[in-house]
Amino acid sequence: MTQLARQETTSQATAAIIRGLQATPKQLSPALFYDKRGSELFDQICELPEYYVTRVETDILRANAQAIAQAIGEQTLLVELGSGSSIKTRLLLDALASIAAYVPVDISREHLLETAASLAADYPAIDVLPLCADFLQPFIVPRTKRPVERVVFFFPGSTIGNLDTANAKKLLTRLRTMAGHKGGLVIGVDLVKDPAILRAAYNDAAGVTADFNLNVLQHLNREHDADFDLSAFEHLAVWDEAQRRIEMRLISKRVQSVRVADTQLAFAAGEYIVTERCHKYTLAGFAALALACGWSSDKVWTDSDDQFSVQYLRAI
Ligand code: AVI
Repeated sequence: MTQLARQETTSQATAAIIRGLQATPKQLSPALFYDKRGSELFDQICELPEYYVTRVETDILRANAQAIAQAIGEQTLLVELGSGSSIKTRLLLDALASIAAYVPVDISREHLLETAASLAADYPAIDVLPLCADFLQPFIVPRTKRPVERVVFFFPGSTIGNLDTANAKKLLTRLRTMAGHKGGLVIGVDLVKDPAILRAAYNDAAGVTADFNLNVLQHLNREHDADFDLSAFEHLAVWDEAQRRIEMRLISKRVQSVRVADTQLAFAAGEYIVTERCHKYTLAGFAALALACGWSSDKVWTDSDDQFSVQYLRAI
């Protein structure tokens, strides 16, 4: 990308940020979390005692790896959305007899290529074809050397929960089209549970989630010429029972004015910015959503407390 093109992209992104901060309620895209520091903090969140999501999903994948591998089948092109370090994928690759290729899709090029190289070294029998792309936008799956019998997507981590219903539908429908009539989708879906567990998971005692949330303001200061005073905001994650979602907020502790580029933005005391929503599903609710997008919820694996589910969706 030329310097001019990069400047244009940044100013478009800054304009979108300003529009979000002029909306009611004020809001920012969760994509802003994942700069270098934010990604490190997210890795720490995954290790927190209160944040059950990663631990429980990994346990489910480990306990059911053979059955999941069977659902994925042979000569399959396995495409992972938002692959990151592909840690959970290794549990599946260990159980898969022979696949056509593994395509990790991630927006962070450096991390993607490093991970792909280490997977290729550890699994010499598997063709690893990394694809640097934003999976929320249409992308083209790379060509493989080996024949492909079917395409199966792998979308763990309950990232589907960070999309509102319209965008979740849009993504699931697009994946269904890309997968074709023999296709499949292995997806991690977090479940509705005791609100006390949910509140604790997103308001951890060590304050890592608070740092993760506040880091967004630091990111805006550095990358979008803003002047947020981080000490004038506090983190709170609220459970919305009606919408069945956690809402991550940054609350202004006082009346203040903040500049982003050339725009001044007014904050009342107690006014908040929504930085993320994390939807939780019932099994029936998610099956209905999947069905509306052309998927049948074929197999569902959960933990003994029904906290989380890993599901195999089959194209219909
Ligand atoms: C990435 N995503 C699935 C996480 C979640 O639980 O919704 C992001 C997160 N936000 C705060 N803690 C974790």
